Amino acid sequence: MKNFISVNDIGPWRDAVREALEIKADRFAHQHLGRNRTLLMIFFNSSLRTRLSTQKAAMNLGMNVMVLDVNQGAWKLETERGVIMDGDKAEHLLEAIPVMGSYCDMIGVRSFAGLTDRDADYEERVIQQFIRYSGRPVFSMEAATRHPLQSFADLITIEEHKPVERPKVVLTWAPHPKALPQAVANSFSEWMNVTDYDFVITHPHGYELDPSFVGNARVEYDQRKAFEGAHFIYAKNWSAYRSPNYGKVLSTDRSWTVDTEKMNLTDNAYFMHCLPVRRGMIVTDEVIESPRSLVIPEAANREISAQTVMKRILESL
Ligand code: CP
Repeated sequence: MKNFISVNDIGPWRDAVREALEIKADRFAHQHLGRNRTLLMIFFNSSLRTRLSTQKAAMNLGMNVMVLDVNQGAWKLETERGVIMDGDKAEHLLEAIPVMGSYCDMIGVRSFAGLTDRDADYEERVIQQFIRYSGRPVFSMEAATRHPLQSFADLITIEEHKPVERPKVVLTWAPHPKALPQAVANSFSEWMNVTDYDFVITHPHGYELDPSFVGNARVEYDQRKAFEGAHFIYAKNWSAYRSPNYGKVLSTDRSWTVDTEKMNLTDNAYFMHCLPVRRGMIVTDEVIESPRSLVIPEAANREISAQTVMKRILESL
């Protein structure tokens, strides 16, 4: 594996899950692969799970790890080419990236969508520049339009818990006070679409995702109908994708909050969310604290998805 930015980079999904579960059963088995190798993790945005799980996974593989928070302690970076740099940004990404690449063997990048310019976000300009100019394998720790390490962990978690071979999986929009990227929802859809699951997306009118991510999913605007017979409920907020409302919050309607009454419409479904989650907005305390909540095992599997991806990159060096 050279780079990891989407489901297209993982190959056959069943093989990937099998490899991940083997790693989970013996997570220190490949320490030799990372000896004298260095991972550089670059954060343009905040993180708890991605930061800790990816660092732990790298240590499991015997790697050295460096972490750079671009907005805390580094020079402010200009990302656009052709600008006169007479503001507060002291360094251009086009110098910074190859310099960073010279200190490491692979790079993980977290860089969220700006949510103002849809074309710029969906071109994935930041991570694509790392791929082009770093000279190193690059993996996404959440980019503008996708969060593939999260989706891979979600898939592993579903495979570990599914009660039937082809479960019904429902991605539901839920309210949030701030504008959030579409990345987790896009990515989850993309990964569910490569499986043979019964995959349904439910959201209010106006929250339609990019059709290329929706793929073969069924879109159901009635959340209660979507929940009927579900085995997994995956809740997430996202801002509007469609023009002219790109990046906007169109609704904070709490009738979309996942609660026990709605979970009772399902086939004893598990509740999933990538975290961090806003209780009382996305989900009630009762649902997230219930025995059917998978939010902690799902977060724990972030270590496994990251380790599987980095193992494959190390094997290709
Ligand atoms: N799910 C996730 O990526 O969490 P963090 O933003 O805390 O890394």
